[in-house]
Amino acid sequence: MSSDITASAVWRKLHDHHASIGARHLREFFAEDPGRGGELTVQVADLHIDYSKHRVTRETLDLLVELAHTAGVEQRRDAMFAGEHINTSEDRAVGHVWLRRPAGQPLTVDGQDVETDVHEVLRRMGEFTDQVRSGAWRGATGERIATVVNIGIGGSDLGPAMVTLALRHYADAGISARFVSNVDPADLVSKLQGLDPATTLFIVASKTFSTLETLTNATAARRWLVAALGEDAVAKHFVAVSTHAQRVADFGIDTANMFGFWDWVGGRYSVDAAIGLSVMAVIGKERFAEFLDGMHRVDEHFKSAPLAQNGPALLGLLGVWYSNFFGAQSRAVLPYSNDLARFPAYLQQLTMESNGKSVRADGTPVSTSTGEIFWGEPGTNGQHAFYQLLHQGTVLAPADFIGFARPTDDLPTLDGTGSMHDILMSNLFAQTKVLAFGKTAEEIAAEGTDPKIVPHKVMPGNRPTTAILAPQLTPSVLGQLIALYEHIVFTEGAIWGIDSFDQWGVELGKAQALALEPLLTSAEEPAPQGDSSTDELIAWYRSNR
Ligand code: F6P
Repeated sequence: MSSDITASAVWRKLHDHHASIGARHLREFFAEDPGRGGELTVQVADLHIDYSKHRVTRETLDLLVELAHTAGVEQRRDAMFAGEHINTSEDRAVGHVWLRRPAGQPLTVDGQDVETDVHEVLRRMGEFTDQVRSGAWRGATGERIATVVNIGIGGSDLGPAMVTLALRHYADAGISARFVSNVDPADLVSKLQGLDPATTLFIVASKTFSTLETLTNATAARRWLVAALGEDAVAKHFVAVSTHAQRVADFGIDTANMFGFWDWVGGRYSVDAAIGLSVMAVIGKERFAEFLDGMHRVDEHFKSAPLAQNGPALLGLLGVWYSNFFGAQSRAVLPYSNDLARFPAYLQQLTMESNGKSVRADGTPVSTSTGEIFWGEPGTNGQHAFYQLLHQGTVLAPADFIGFARPTDDLPTLDGTGSMHDILMSNLFAQTKVLAFGKTAEEIAAEGTDPKIVPHKVMPGNRPTTAILAPQLTPSVLGQLIALYEHIVFTEGAIWGIDSFDQWGVELGKAQALALEPLLTSAEEPAPQGDSSTDELIAWYRSNR
């Protein structure tokens, strides 16, 4: 499984192929293959994906599919769905796809009745959130809950924070959600502003229930609550989401008010597990079920579509094409939807914590680059900020444009006759067109432009983009988008032969912070830390704090 894919014959073929077509322009590709705009598309559930504006020919796509076959992407995918321990460094199965299977399909993995356990937690989450939403669950003073505050970080924060914003139209029970993650006290303090302890419910979300940021914030929130309502109020105002019941109990939260999940759900893959409790409280269990169903539809596509028509696999292969053959280092994600403002941040953890690895699953060093840097902002804001570099800069940054046929909100245009949403979408189409085809010096000169200015106005084009379009940003479509990227990450990781499901690289920094913290305030001069820069930084802090 961890054999070096760069030593394969198909890698060599791709290398040679890149040498022959890598410098060619999208204008030529479209001229030679006029049907590609309609044909290089794939439908994944409700997602219409156009990948025609990529620097590929049909031969490139065939070679990339051959690469996936050679790397064993399908076998690895099937191994994931079947519960094999494909997270080898932690010796764990990888089962987020089981969280969204419909009830009634038995599944046992490592002796666990996964189907029963998953649906039992969903049932309990539904029962609890029904009570909170209906007002049957009351705070210690008898008032209804108005705000849930999710305290968690990384995968225990980014997913529910992104989803509740994206689905704000579906908040139908008068419950709002806030999210506290950072150990910077400004986060908790600002999020508690204006809240009434009597109507606030804290959800302490942590897979391990050992994360310093989360336990620190949860303890501070508990003090805030107890100061207002007394110790006995905790039971009605704190619930937990975790895989670790003992630590939840030790923290002082009744495990009757704990919602569990399992070590086969990675943190960054857990918004569809109990980590989605805050989402369910806001949008209700029926909408949450639609969200899970959207994910499941994409899982089914990924599992069964042949690679040449498999959306996530193709987009993952295109990521490999640019990373490893063009030397691209990043991928922009540009949602033409304000409600998806946090989607790029969510994807940063999903993709970069998964595929930012330097060794293959067997511990041998990788022999090519891995892990794209994901970044982005909603359109059209990005257009007035960083698109200049996308259009005329010297780096290649492939970009995913995400847009919707129907808006969640709409307003009339300047003259009152049009739709603002149409303006938004025309910008998406314009940007992908201009990035692909640009404008030549001849075209600019023909407009009578001062020759000295012509080079400044040349738009090189040949900048690859994917357009991902859907009817509307519904719970199902959002689930589909998330699952699409999960499987893109999977495909890339399988090609590179890495373990996309561990995250050892975050541990050393955590340990160092714990070791350094006492030195910031100790009465004695701290002992040297082994490098003069860290010693000086600590000294500066001690004399300025
Ligand atoms: O530090 C990285 C990480 O382990 C992520 O993988 C995870 O999502 C996050 O911390 C939070 O972990 P937990 O849910 O256990 O608090």
